[in-house]
Amino acid sequence: MPGPGRWRAERDDIALRFRPLTERDLADAPGWLGEIDLRADRWRDESTRSVVAQGEDGAILAAGIVWTSHAHDDRYWADVVVDPARRRARIGTAMFRHLSGLRARDLPFMTRGYVDDPRLAFAFALGARTIQVVPPARIELVRRTALRPLPGIAPGTEVPMSAIEDANASFYQWIHASWSPVSPEFVAAVNAGLKDDLDLASTAVAVDGQGRPRAVALVYGDTDPPVVCAETVRPDEPDGERLVEGCLRAALDALAERGLAEVEFDGHVTDPHLLPNWAKLAPSGRWFLLVEVPPAR
Ligand SMILES: CC(C)(COP(=O)(O)OP(=O)(O)OC[C@H]1O[C@@H](n2cnc3c(N)ncnc32)[C@H](O)[C@@H]1OP(=O)(O)O)[C@@H](O)C(=O)NCCC(=O)NCCS
Repeated sequence: MPGPGRWRAERDDIALRFRPLTERDLADAPGWLGEIDLRADRWRDESTRSVVAQGEDGAILAAGIVWTSHAHDDRYWADVVVDPARRRARIGTAMFRHLSGLRARDLPFMTRGYVDDPRLAFAFALGARTIQVVPPARIELVRRTALRPLPGIAPGTEVPMSAIEDANASFYQWIHASWSPVSPEFVAAVNAGLKDDLDLASTAVAVDGQGRPRAVALVYGDTDPPVVCAETVRPDEPDGERLVEGCLRAALDALAERGLAEVEFDGHVTDPHLLPNWAKLAPSGRWFLLVEVPPAR
C-alpha cells in the first residue's frame, strides 16, 4: 500500500509528495482544484479523507478525495483532479493508488459520469465496471400526454408529510437493494430536508382505500428545472407501472399548469415501474453511468 511520502507517477518519472488537504489549500487553491468538490482531510471522520500531491517544487499537481455516503456503506466515493497542464502523465493513476491506501475499510470505490466524459474513461482505465445506468433525463412537459391520467391521485399537499417520508424511504430502499444496498441509518439521510426540498403541490401520490401511498412522483422544486423521482412504495405493487404512470401524469400536469416547460428525471434503468413510463416521454440528454472501481492493491 502506498503511504504518505514520495510516489513516482509511472510516466515521465514525476516525483510526487502526498499530504493531507487542508482548509488553507482550499482557500489558496489554484482554480482547477474547483473542478471537483473538495473538503479538508477527515472533515467528518476516518472515512472522509482528502490529499494533495505536490511536485518537487512544492506546487500542487493533483488532489484526491474519498468518502462514504450516509445512505449506503458498501463503497467509497472517490474523486481525483489533476493540474490541466499535467494530465495524461499518470498523476491521476498515482493519486488513485494513494487513495486506495487511505481506506479505513476494505471496500471498493465508486464514481459516476456521463458516458462520453473523460472522468469515466479514467475510471475504466483503472478497472471500473458499470453498476448502474441512468437514461437521458430531460423531459419536455409537452410530451406528458403520452402518459394516461388515473383517478385517485392526490397532490402531496393532501398527504401527511410522515406518509410521504415513509414512502420515500421505502422505495429508496428497494430500488437500491440489488446494486447498492442501504446502510442501517439510511432513513434519516434520505429524508433529511425532504419537506423543504419537495414541491408538494406538484408531487403526486397514488393512495389506497385507507389513504396509504402505493406510488409516488416526488417533485423536487429546489432545482432548475425541477427533478422528478417516481416509483411504487413496495416492489411487488400490483399495477405498479400504471400507478406510476398516473402519478407522473398528475405531477407533470401540475408543473405544466404553472408554466414550466421541462423537468429532469432521477432514476435508474432497473426501476421497473418508472423506466417504461420514462421511455414513453422521449427524454433527451446524455446517458450516465455509475461504476465500481477496484482499489489498487
Ligand atoms: C480524470 C483525470 C483525474 C485524469 O487524470 P490524469 O492524470 O490525466 O490520468 P492518467 O494520466 O493517470 O490516465 C490514466 C488513463 O486514464 C484514461 N484517461 C485519462 N484521461 C483521459 C481522457 N481525457 N480521455 C480519455 N482517456 C483518459 C487513459 O486510459 C489514461 O491512460 P493513457 O494516458 O495511457 O491513455 C483528469 O483528467 C482530471 O483532473 N479531470 C478533471 C476532474 C475529473 O473529472 N475528475 C474525475 C475523476 S473520477
